[in-house]
Amino acid sequence: MRIRVPATTANLGPGFDSCGLALTLYLTLDVMEEQAEWHIEHGLGAEIPADATNIIIQTALQLAPDIKPRRLVMESAIPPARGLGSSSAAVVAGIELAVALGGLSLTKEEKVEIAAEIEGHPDNVAPAILGNLAIGAKLEGEDFYVRHLFPNCSILAFIPKTELLTSESRAVLPQEIPFKEAVRASSIANVMIGALLQNDMVLAGKMIEKDRWHEKYRARLVPHLLEIRKIARENGAYATCLSGAGPTVLVFAPSDKTNKLKERLQTIDPDAAILELEVEGSGSEIFD
Ligand code: HSE
Repeated sequence: MRIRVPATTANLGPGFDSCGLALTLYLTLDVMEEQAEWHIEHGLGAEIPADATNIIIQTALQLAPDIKPRRLVMESAIPPARGLGSSSAAVVAGIELAVALGGLSLTKEEKVEIAAEIEGHPDNVAPAILGNLAIGAKLEGEDFYVRHLFPNCSILAFIPKTELLTSESRAVLPQEIPFKEAVRASSIANVMIGALLQNDMVLAGKMIEKDRWHEKYRARLVPHLLEIRKIARENGAYATCLSGAGPTVLVFAPSDKTNKLKERLQTIDPDAAILELEVEGSGSEIFD
């Protein structure tokens, strides 16, 4: 049995902690034979637990404590600590593992609620489970989600070699934002969503770049963001934004601009990986 969970990008600029998009880069988990103890082969080094304390297994056991230990083989093309939803993908894989082995019957919406409770915000877990664009509001005791198609465009992910922990990237954010500023920031997010729903990537792109919630505070941790944005604008892109808490930066562009953009972006940092991704439409899946 195989579990597959897509990478995700959170925020899309002004949709801070609320909007996310599933991308065609995957974590796969092969569920092998039963054995005496849980063991997960992941090839990610000694820092990531390979026993029952691994987050995937922990999550599964939290939901289905009676499932029998297995050998698991994980392969992930989602680079860790880069703002592409690697930890959310692990949590979602754990939920799917509990579903697969524990016979739980959970709707996609229930899975999103459980995952958002574990992660604290829904912007990565919702698209990881639902696919496509997901917009969520996680409130006290009540969650609301909308899933929608994303406008057709190319997506380039500029992935630096260095990691950036979400905790570090959240630590630079203000505790409070003045009321007027919050109203402005939320109006930008509202127009962005409206434009995305109307398939208007030009307007959505403008709004994505006008975020007032988080990117300006994080700019010093991700100095390449503004450089990429400048090059992307010069080369006809719709928008550039930080992917989640960074350090990955996403560029949305018309597809005929992609090759030139890729070349130009690589000159910023020859060591960065530049991946051309697409919107992932299925969300997490279990294959027999
Ligand atoms: N919305 C989150 C952030 C995503 O920007 O901090 C990372 O968990």
